[in-house]
Amino acid sequence: MKRSLGRELIFMAIQTSINGKPVALAAEPDTPLLWVIREELGLTGTKFGCGIAACGACTVHVNGEPTRSCSLPVSEVAGKSITTIEGLKSADGTLHAVQQAWISAQVPQCGYCQSGQIMAAVALIEKTGSPSDAQIDEAMTNICRCGTYPRIRKAIHAATGQAAKAAKPAEGGA
Ligand code: FES
Ligand code: FES
Repeated sequence: MKRSLGRELIFMAIQTSINGKPVALAAEPDTPLLWVIREELGLTGTKFGCGIAACGACTVHVNGEPTRSCSLPVSEVAGKSITTIEGLKSADGTLHAVQQAWISAQVPQCGYCQSGQIMAAVALIEKTGSPSDAQIDEAMTNICRCGTYPRIRKAIHAATGQAAKAAKPAEGGA
């Protein structure tokens, strides 16, 4: 459904699902999904970094695929299922295994990139089961300015039940 407002903005009611709940998003069709998630829905766990699909701070799942929401027009999620960092925990509030591993490994430094990192890691684990270091390095293209990459690898291995592997040195290691 479209309606025209006085400022001649065209809004579209976009039916979708956010964290398991059906919602109708009222937004201009080309609005980046990130803005709708943060500004309309108030789900501010998903962060803005670069705005050009380069850093991964804005990563959410769209039909289970890790997706950079800063560069995805909201019109493209009609009829799809979106999961944000707020939707990872179970109904009783238990954190996802990856979130728990992140805490145990004390992964975050400043924390800004970490919800995107966790969303990327969850998608990787759901796809591969127990990713190797090489698979982690290939799939986890999210940027961390604090250089938490070794702890990210450690937490992913811990979340998948692997023995913690010695992390390879990474640029700006922390
Ligand atoms: S803010 Fe979306 S990839 Fe950087
Ligand atoms: S923890 Fe600071 S940018 Fe990643």
